[in-house]
Amino acid sequence: MTDTSRDAKPSWSRATLAAQALGHTDPVTKAVVPPLHLATTYLRDPDNAYRSGFIYGRPDNATVRDTEAVIAALEEASAGAMLFASGSTAATACFLALDPGDHVVASAVMYWALRKWLLTEGKRLGLDVTFCETDDLRQLEAAVRPGRTKLVWVETPSNPLWTITDIAAAAGIAHRAGARLAVDSTCASPYHTRPLTLGADIVMHSATKILNGHSDAIAGVLAGARDDEYWQRLAAIRSGQGGIIGPFEAYLLQRGLKTLFVRASAQARAAQDLAERLSAHPHVARVLYPGLPQHPGHAVAARQMENGFGYMMSIQVRGGEQAAIATAARVELWKRATSLGGVESLIEHRGSIEGPDTPCPLDLLRLSTGIENPDDLHADLDQALRAAHG
Ligand SMILES: Cc1ncc(COP(=O)(O)O)c(C=O)c1O
Repeated sequence: MTDTSRDAKPSWSRATLAAQALGHTDPVTKAVVPPLHLATTYLRDPDNAYRSGFIYGRPDNATVRDTEAVIAALEEASAGAMLFASGSTAATACFLALDPGDHVVASAVMYWALRKWLLTEGKRLGLDVTFCETDDLRQLEAAVRPGRTKLVWVETPSNPLWTITDIAAAAGIAHRAGARLAVDSTCASPYHTRPLTLGADIVMHSATKILNGHSDAIAGVLAGARDDEYWQRLAAIRSGQGGIIGPFEAYLLQRGLKTLFVRASAQARAAQDLAERLSAHPHVARVLYPGLPQHPGHAVAARQMENGFGYMMSIQVRGGEQAAIATAARVELWKRATSLGGVESLIEHRGSIEGPDTPCPLDLLRLSTGIENPDDLHADLDQALRAAHG
């Protein structure tokens, strides 16, 4: 799906590729910013051919291709990247591409709405889904069924406990069983982790989050290690269902990607600083952040993540659920809202969203660290925690 005709040099680092959208300049106007192509239909040549490569806007779009090319470069994806209307559209396409009766293994701790989809729609489609703690490789090994498991779905770091799954080891287990490994890398982003280079077959992102980074576009993406039959099936599903991202959202996403590396760097530094300070806070029982040595996934994270440990963490508030909700009620700088990965810091009581069957402790507040001054972020949480505890 990716048009690779750009001016990027092989020596350019991924930060440079992102900043310059692969060195794109418009061939006609020489504009340094790629254009926004809104057309839904394209002229057919008089001899009935479509030499431009474009026919209709549902299977394909030039702005979408431009943005896909950037993400493919960042993920080092040989098959390219495919943009979808949302992270959920991208993720569910991976399961819709399977056959009834296929066995799937998925992380027990994962984005709750996708877990719910697997338990309801996935079941209706005839998928046989086993959830297990994929950070425990013995559990994963026991969960796969050689010859029957077709997809292992891993989210790392995973919502909202930030458990870390060893991608290279999970890929080995999946491949030995004859399955593909797909990684939801939303909370790592290509700045911190490159799952395909670690052996994954598919990387998925909710591009709504840090890839776009400005909380103003819903988007999803898959990046593939191989242009094989499964990848073509994903393309057919996107085209057949009209799951493609809109051109304007693709344009916004490409603009967001230009600053991904500086945003992700600042957000990870702020998150690490905050996690360390909150670990010593009298009203915080526990900080869940893979950058802390006491986090159970720290050693694996230190090996498979680059440039820090990401922008997401959770805190468990002393005093339980009501103290957690009261803390969230008293913040003034943090925004009390769902979602994550934007430049503005967000706080959320996840238990209120995820419902009764969640593995999320009820005293947990999820924090998405933005680019504000870390001292301001800490001061606001500190005053909210103190106010909530009277
Ligand atoms: C880790 C993760 N994966 C997938 C999704 C779904 O993405 P979207 O909301 O873009 O459909 C989300 C959304 O919050 C998420 O946090």
